[in-house]
Formats: sequence, structure tokens, C-alpha cells
Amino acid sequence: TLPIRIAPSILAADFARLGQEVKDVTEAGADWIHLDVMDGHFVPNISFGPDVIKALRPYTTATFDCHLMISPADPYLEAFAKAGCDRITVHAEAGVHLHRSLQTIRHLGKKVGVTLNPATPLSILENVLDDIDLILIMSVNPGFGGQKFIPAMADKIRNAKSLIGDRPIELEVDGGVSTDTAELIIAAGANVLVAGSAIFKGESVDAYKQTIGDLRAA
Ligand code: DX5
Ligand code: ZN
Repeated sequence: TLPIRIAPSILAADFARLGQEVKDVTEAGADWIHLDVMDGHFVPNISFGPDVIKALRPYTTATFDCHLMISPADPYLEAFAKAGCDRITVHAEAGVHLHRSLQTIRHLGKKVGVTLNPATPLSILENVLDDIDLILIMSVNPGFGGQKFIPAMADKIRNAKSLIGDRPIELEVDGGVSTDTAELIIAAGANVLVAGSAIFKGESVDAYKQTIGDLRAA
């Protein structure tokens, strides 16, 4: 079974000191750095793109876990690969050629992820299970940090876990992950927890460390 990994989302970090934030959260025990890319089209918010990711790359050796909330994604995959993303996750809803997007990420030499909005059924993954390294279950509607975990997603995580079977696919959950919800999320079968506001509401590296430790122990 895959280890529990904590992936702080820097969407909730101080954007004026992003490099230091990435450094701090790495020192605090982050396994992956979760990078939320938003285009103001697929989701109703705009965040940052490949140039910002490239600028952050020297601040940590932690895995860059890139969550693309953009449509179309295909024209930009190479730029995100070159910017230093280790893992690239696309939304199944972001285009009509999901398999092609996954193949492109694979050919770029990066780990391949697919994510589903809360209303999108898991069945869309049935024919790509052998082409992916990660499934990301959105437990809020993407676009903003600080939202509440949607309770119906607990069953979805459980069903995703059984769909994965014994394949070495990471099961990641994003949205409303906190020390209150982490236990239920891990019990449902997830091994990667994304957390934005829960971690970055802390005001010191020690506070980040405490929250990351609590999430991991849940
Ligand atoms: C939402 C993003 C999330 C978000 C999570 O669109 O994909 O990664 O930053 O934020 P919290 O942990 O505050 O719900
Ligand atoms: Zn995300």
C-alpha cells in the first residue's frame, strides 16, 4: 500500500512570499507541493501559470504536484512539464480527448493524474485505469480554497479505492481537508491529502509542522 502523503496547496499561501512559503512548508514536512492552476474559464478564478512554477522550482526538492484547472489543457502541458512539475493532473471535464491528454503527459515523462469534479462519475475512468498514476477526487467545486468538504465524496473515495484495486495508483483528495475531515478521508482509502487553508492559516513553520503532523496521523 502507498504511504500517506501530505500536499500543501500554496493557493492559500502568502503570494507575496511564495518562494519562502514553499521552503517553509517543505521544512515543515510536506511530501508534495500542490500547485493549483486556474484559468478563469474552466473555473471562476485565476491563479498562476508555468512561469511562477518555474520560479518556485529552486526553493524545494519536494515533488511538484500540478493540478490544472484549465481548458483546454493540451496546448500547455509541455510548458508545465518544462517548468518543473513532476506530476500533472488534468480534469476529465476539461476536454473531449482525455486519453490524448494522459498520453501527452506520459510522453513528457511526467506522472499522469486525472481529477473529477464532485458531480462527475467514476465510470469515466474505467477505460484509462492502466494509463494513470493518480486519481484526484475533488471534494469541493474547484476554484477557491477554504470551502467545506462535500460529505457525499466520502463514498466516492471508497468507490475509487475499490476501482483502483491492486494497481499502484495514488488516491488524492482535494478540498476541505482539515484535521476534522482527514480521518474519514484516510479511512475511505485516500493516501494523498491536499490541504490549503488548514495548513497556511498557521502563522509559523512550527504551526505548519503541527498541522502536517496532525493530518498525517489522522
Ligand atoms: C480548489 C483547489 C484546492 C484548494 C484547497 O480549487 O484545487 O487545492 O486550494 O483549499 P482548501 O484546503 O482550503 O479547501
Ligand atoms: Zn487542487
